[in-house]
Amino acid sequence: MNVTEIFEGVYKIEGKLATKNLAPGTKVYDEELKKINNIEYRLWNPYRSKLAAAIINGLSALDIKTNSSVLYLGASTGTTASHVSDIVWEHGNVYCIEISKRSMRDLLSVCEKRQNMLPVFEDARNYANYSDDIGTVDVIYQDVAAPDQDKILLLNSSMLKSGGSAYVAIKSQSINISKDPKIVFEEFIQSISKTFKVVQRIKIEPFDKMHLFLHLKKI
Ligand SMILES: C[S@@+](CC[C@H](N)C(=O)[O-])C[C@H]1O[C@@H](n2cnc3c(N)ncnc32)[C@H](O)[C@@H]1O
Repeated sequence: MNVTEIFEGVYKIEGKLATKNLAPGTKVYDEELKKINNIEYRLWNPYRSKLAAAIINGLSALDIKTNSSVLYLGASTGTTASHVSDIVWEHGNVYCIEISKRSMRDLLSVCEKRQNMLPVFEDARNYANYSDDIGTVDVIYQDVAAPDQDKILLLNSSMLKSGGSAYVAIKSQSINISKDPKIVFEEFIQSISKTFKVVQRIKIEPFDKMHLFLHLKKI
């Protein structure tokens, strides 16, 4: 079977996206496991992960790499965060901020098997409660589906190194259900423009509707 590395730690196997499994023999959602040349890969489902959808739809640069430290806002049950954990591998870190108790329960069992995933049961608006412990990060990944997503990103941006990347999934319906999504997206970009420049905008249809995926860089 042919394995091609398309970004550091991200592979294509027969046209499907995959990461190397940091916790061999275990699954996080219903992903398929594939063993090739004694290495176990997890297929990465773009219908379950907006980062996978963005990669398939043409993301040009992925600054999440081996050894990166990633602040993940809205980790939920760890679907995408676990693939980020695969990419950064054993010496990287994924700080998983999650507000929901229900999601945190499932996330904790994922983190138990992956030493580089650190769960933080907290509202990402209260960044001061975790910023000192975490310190500076290389990348922020944000998928919080909250109306004040722009403010949450700006608050947490103090933890991002200068020139660091942020990858953000914006769901227009979570911000304003009655507004034209294009206006919602423009208002988001305007709101964060003093701190971030836009590197790339990606639509993630057909995998997810009403979303815009952004690659940003801290100015
Ligand atoms: C769309 S889901 C994230 C899915 C996840 N990124 C993935 O791909 O596997 C959004 C998550 O953000 C969490 N969330 C919403 N507001 C939050 C906040 N203020 N602080 C931390 N987490 C928040 C929700 O509880 C939910 O689990």
